[in-house]
Amino acid sequence: QELQMNLEQIEKGGYPHFMLKEIFEQPSAIKDTYRGRLLAKEGIIRMAGIDDNIERFLNAKRIIIVACGTSWHAGLVAEYIFEDLARIPVEVEYASEFRYRNPIISDKDVVIAISQSGETADTLAAIKLAKSRGAFVFGVCNVVGSSIARETHAGAYTHAGPEIGVASTKAFTTQITVLTLIALKLAKNNGSMSNSDFHHHLQELELIPEKVEKALQSDPHIQAVAEIYKNAKNCLYLGRGYNFPVALEGALKLKEISYIHAEGYPAAEMKHGPIALIDEQMPVIVIATKKGHYEKVVSNIEEIKARKGKIIGIVTEGDTNVKQLADHVIEVPETLESLSPLLTTIPLQLLSYHIAVMLGRNVDQPRNLAKSVTVE
Ligand code: G6P
Repeated sequence: QELQMNLEQIEKGGYPHFMLKEIFEQPSAIKDTYRGRLLAKEGIIRMAGIDDNIERFLNAKRIIIVACGTSWHAGLVAEYIFEDLARIPVEVEYASEFRYRNPIISDKDVVIAISQSGETADTLAAIKLAKSRGAFVFGVCNVVGSSIARETHAGAYTHAGPEIGVASTKAFTTQITVLTLIALKLAKNNGSMSNSDFHHHLQELELIPEKVEKALQSDPHIQAVAEIYKNAKNCLYLGRGYNFPVALEGALKLKEISYIHAEGYPAAEMKHGPIALIDEQMPVIVIATKKGHYEKVVSNIEEIKARKGKIIGIVTEGDTNVKQLADHVIEVPETLESLSPLLTTIPLQLLSYHIAVMLGRNVDQPRNLAKSVTVE
């Protein structure tokens, strides 16, 4: 027993929880994900699983992404990236809905299955269904040799290293990294991106690990914000465009480990419902980074303020506008809009983590949840 305890302490590498360790591992995890694949100076992305099947991707009428939970959120981010950069139509499906819906799917489709564990039963079943209808199925998994990795025609591993905390953190950002590499590679191949834009993206992607490192430095400030809102009963997360899925993921993280009810919404949809919930008790986390519909999000913030909601803004370094309106701001470094989810996610992970710890929750093993769901 004691030996096991010590072993666990060693595995946590000095962190009190696996989740915190995994959050702080993200700079190196993202680097491991693009190592050997992203050759920014040469202007090359090398991915065997894509190179070997490039015709399937380039001839695809559309890409269908299937996943569950946090991996589904990574799929939603990928939808923005693929459509924006590579101009390929994308649909994102919950694997559990897809498999029971008699979906329209053919050999002209490419299916991308995203799964940290590679064992999620619904995702595995969705893959089998897609294969039976002739689709080409590509896996994005973290666990090497997992069932999904074996069941797909080709794939790319995230190389995030073992993720022990039930709430997914580094798997999410590394999934987005892999999917970004794929989208950029396809964009280059199908001519939907200019050479200079392509190079610029590669350079910016290479800088992401150090920018994540910088975002992590806000940890003490985020902890102070967590202290103020730890007793909230509800929480609303808003974002637009690339950062709408990040809002969903932020809300999921809070629900999973703190058991506080939270909802993620596209900021513009607030007026169609959630605005009715806003009062002085309601913390609203708004992702309001520069670019990305900034002005529109600022006017959403004004609407929340007029109803006395408490505003926590996730902003670009040096922002002054939101600072004047919000109760708190948490800064992240500037990057391209398409890469911003890799940075805006970080403070949301930390906020959930600290609130859960303050409430005495079992952060690494939240009640009723499992790391890998092998039953439907
Ligand atoms: C479970 C985990 C989540 C995860 C989801 C999908 O619900 O608790 O963290 O996002 O399964 O898992 P997968 O391994 O397929 O990414």
